[in-house]
Amino acid sequence: MYEPVSHALLNRILDQVKPELKKKQLRFFHTRLGANFYAIHSLFKRLYGHREDLEAQMVRLVEVLAQNYIARPKPLKKLDKEREQDHQWFLHQRWVGMALYANAFAGRLPDLQERLPYLQELGVNLVHIMPILQCPPGASDGGYAVSDFRDVDERAGTLDELRALGEAMHAQDVLLTLDVVVNHTSDQHEWAQKAKAGEAKYQDYYYTFEDREIPDQYERTMPEVFPEQAPGNFTYDEAMERWVMTVFNTYQWDLNYRNPAVFIEMLDILLFWANQGADILRLDAVAFLWKKIGTQSQNEREAHVILQLFKDCCQVTAPGVLFIAEAIVAPSEIIKYFGEDAVVAKECEIAYNATTMALMWDAVATKNAQLLREGIRSLPDKLEGATWLNYVRCHDDIGLGFDDGDIVKAGYDPASHRRFLVDWFTGGYSMSPARGRRFGENAATGDARIAGSLASLAGLESALERGDPSEIQLCIDLILMLHGIILAFGGIPLLYYGDELGTLNDYSYEGDIHRSDDSRWIHRPVIDWERAERRNERGTPEQRIYQGLRHMIEVRKETPAFADFNNRELLDPESTHLFAFLRSHPQQPSERVLVVANFNDAPETMNLDELGGRGHFGTGQLVDSVSGSSLKVEEGVLTVPPFGIYWVEAH
Ligand code: GLC
Repeated sequence: MYEPVSHALLNRILDQVKPELKKKQLRFFHTRLGANFYAIHSLFKRLYGHREDLEAQMVRLVEVLAQNYIARPKPLKKLDKEREQDHQWFLHQRWVGMALYANAFAGRLPDLQERLPYLQELGVNLVHIMPILQCPPGASDGGYAVSDFRDVDERAGTLDELRALGEAMHAQDVLLTLDVVVNHTSDQHEWAQKAKAGEAKYQDYYYTFEDREIPDQYERTMPEVFPEQAPGNFTYDEAMERWVMTVFNTYQWDLNYRNPAVFIEMLDILLFWANQGADILRLDAVAFLWKKIGTQSQNEREAHVILQLFKDCCQVTAPGVLFIAEAIVAPSEIIKYFGEDAVVAKECEIAYNATTMALMWDAVATKNAQLLREGIRSLPDKLEGATWLNYVRCHDDIGLGFDDGDIVKAGYDPASHRRFLVDWFTGGYSMSPARGRRFGENAATGDARIAGSLASLAGLESALERGDPSEIQLCIDLILMLHGIILAFGGIPLLYYGDELGTLNDYSYEGDIHRSDDSRWIHRPVIDWERAERRNERGTPEQRIYQGLRHMIEVRKETPAFADFNNRELLDPESTHLFAFLRSHPQQPSERVLVVANFNDAPETMNLDELGGRGHFGTGQLVDSVSGSSLKVEEGVLTVPPFGIYWVEAH
């Protein structure tokens, strides 16, 4: 877009940037900067327009973009161009991800590189390595308290090893996802250390206050994220003799994006990791980026402006790189992290589908898909060119953040229903097979969340203890069914390491002083590679889960209707135990798949005629593409086995 004020400013900025930047061959950089500059300028002005040094800050911003463009390795620039040509590449059904801790999964980064064949055997071609940047020894919130944003933690390896891993992955067509913790730093980070030493410049990198007056104003409306281990949102720092905002743990200092220097530093860091070979950057805790007195300081308009600005800037320097929004917030808010408009206000191409995840666990507890259906029905369509990250479990707790209105529509009272769910998964009911732990319990509000590994929450731990083969089989079926939903739902399925082997809870965290107050460690296991070998031993739970998943992943990749173009139609079978939807490829309408999952531990029937289901398929023979078997449909009625899932296609 041509806009005279921005255009004149761009010319002035290009005159002012450092002379060495002007000498370089920057053709592609300049076209991209020109195309995005109006947006960048408008957004930057929206955040920092009141400042006298606005233009100087913009010069610095453009220098950061140019320096990182110059530093960007040639093969990555080539990828950028390829992805610009095929900008919907990540919506394809071929991508299947896994999130893992390098150390707990494999050891050091070179060990992880050696384990790539295991992931490829399963069909995983997108690996999210959980935080590996430098962080202090002892408690570091699983790596989310970063003390140096430009180096790999020595316990994980070196920057060279990470680059080598990235190159090995690229050579095998595997995408690399890295975490960038944009909301806060460790209190050991150089900026925090300088702030503690009294440097005003760095105190302004954080929200620091000399007394409780302003913190108290914030506290009136800000909820607590970790009410048990880190109550309140501020911590008094003795060395600095000031209060500092610490929304998460006391050692995680919130960055102050009201200061443009913070924005520019973090942009530089994002581009640095893009240049180390990351295809996708996971932006942590993005809902929290902007704090405002009198609000919850989550999902603020300015947080979106920051993300749009990050995106537009990244588009100039590293356009092939995607962002994942980690915003575990209400469904109506999550959707906004894709942006408001695919062209003028886009933010993150990918977002965690926390709503569907939590709703699936609701259906597991109740054996009823009613609330799951209501919740999915209320989920607005995404923007074009945006996609979900669909998951069953991850390294965090399960928060029950779905919508109260949907809970009411499903026939429950919101507060008591949430209480029931937490109790169900954490030992409150003797008939529940789930073995979870409570997390983030807030005595004042009554809120609580759930921790636990997928297999233990699904009942496998207790079934194995009881040794009842049919019970064990039901749990395995449930685990496969939940994955069958995320593989077919639309978006990138993200498996969580260990779940492919049915890994149970790991209780060893209870004896570790740095972990015992955080029950999420119960589901962050160290992989036992001897056990992993059992994936090849016929009949073991490991084999049944791993091979079942491997097969479903293979079928997903061959099913064009599973690509994500908002091409999902939710169905309403009469049995409330069933969750069913239809997927059809917009360009290949004959490619249709009916997905039907049974949350009950007894068989359930679905009348295809009533749903117009038969109509979708004509008179051809119906086949379940998961098992490859023909389906028996009697008088229009299909029977789905306990915890079964069918991907129905006509042949
Ligand atoms: C994100 C991470 C979580 C961490 C928090 C604070 O939500 O997923 O593990 O505790 O951010 O960094």
